[in-house]
Amino acid sequence: MANKKMGLEVVSSAIISFSVFLLLASTTQAQSNGVFDVTTYGAGKDITEALTNAWKSACASTKASKVLIPSGTYWLRRVTLAGPCKAAIKLQVDGILQAPVDPDKLSGGHWVNFRYIDQFTLSGRGTFDGQGKVAWSKSTCQKYKDCDSLPMNIRFDFITNALVRDITSRDSKNFHVNVLGCKNLTFQHFTVRAPGESVNTDGIHIGRSTGIYIIDSKIGTGDDCISVGDGTEELHITGVTCGPGHGISVGSLGKYPNEKPVSGIFVKNCTISDTTNGVRIKSWPNLYGGVASNMHFEDIVMNNVQNPVIIDQVYCPWNQCSLKAPSKVKISDVSFKSIRGTSATPVAVRIACSSGFPCQNVKLANINLAYRGPGGPAKSQCSNVKPIISGIMSASGC
Ligand SMILES: *[C@@H]1O[C@H](CO)[C@@H](O)[C@H](O)[C@H]1NC(C)=O
Ligand SMILES: *[C@@H]1O[C@H](CO)[C@@H](O)[C@H](O)[C@H]1NC(C)=O
Repeated sequence: MANKKMGLEVVSSAIISFSVFLLLASTTQAQSNGVFDVTTYGAGKDITEALTNAWKSACASTKASKVLIPSGTYWLRRVTLAGPCKAAIKLQVDGILQAPVDPDKLSGGHWVNFRYIDQFTLSGRGTFDGQGKVAWSKSTCQKYKDCDSLPMNIRFDFITNALVRDITSRDSKNFHVNVLGCKNLTFQHFTVRAPGESVNTDGIHIGRSTGIYIIDSKIGTGDDCISVGDGTEELHITGVTCGPGHGISVGSLGKYPNEKPVSGIFVKNCTISDTTNGVRIKSWPNLYGGVASNMHFEDIVMNNVQNPVIIDQVYCPWNQCSLKAPSKVKISDVSFKSIRGTSATPVAVRIACSSGFPCQNVKLANINLAYRGPGGPAKSQCSNVKPIISGIMSASGC
């Protein structure tokens, strides 16, 4: 009896030591190659806890580390992955991550939030699927623009020296990506995919950030492909295809007090197809002041775009504004160069500036936009601006 019991104890303590050994071995392995695979953190179909724990271990690592979500389809609830971390950190997503369908399960404005991380890479062939279809159909934002309560797919807050590569964001319930307070953040081969009729699903919204690069990316969605909020400086957008959607927009500006200046916006070599707008700068009338300057749009192909080139300082969606006083936002040093393709409406170029603060130094060079429908050919309309026109100008009027 005694012997048998002893034997069992020996066996069980051997099992315990062996498990401890395995645990140590796996931890050691994670540390030695720097890879923290969520599936070794007890991930089932729902990887929320496993991802949170893998991230914590990786973030505490003093050597560069990588959290891996391998191929497969997983459920992910609301999650915040925060720094500061002890060294450079990567998150490689090869799987498909599905958000809860019910927006009430994602209170607080976001699904996945990355914050306070330096030297961060988010990459992989994976997808963040916001499963927004039900939320869009319930949404009242089309009528009231009151969409704040719906969660965005991904928020980047105060991220520095970072790269987002290859990842796809689809069917977000609200904006796909929001960039706030970031510095030196690049999106490369990034994809956004949502139907043209999905409400308020901006591709990438940037605000209060410096040195943001969006390169060789493909954005099709129900609102702006890229929207630029106040305090954005040194934004470079190149090789982006946009459509369906509402185009690439600076603004809307001047809706809130104390907005910070927008400056250094460079949009180059982009293709915009079947959208409501092409390249646009917009501000609200009658409200607050602001400054937007040094914005350049060059080498852009438009395919069947309703308003290919537009500055709109009487921006007033859903009649939610007063036209009593002009916009107080000052726009200057803007160029539109080598803009070619087709307009879906007769007014291919519309530069409607503020009567209180006329636009300064607006250049139009080599504008070759055709309109083939009734009421053609393509024209341009300008108010409160004296644009400097050079090269080809296919849309006469300004
Ligand atoms: C910007 O971030 C990238 C990616 O982390 C890094 O390689 C590069 O050195 C950073 N640039 C500057 C000026 O710090
Ligand atoms: C322009 O953008 C396309 C992607 O839309 C890319 O394939 C091409 O290399 C870019 N050209 C230049 C000169 O950057």
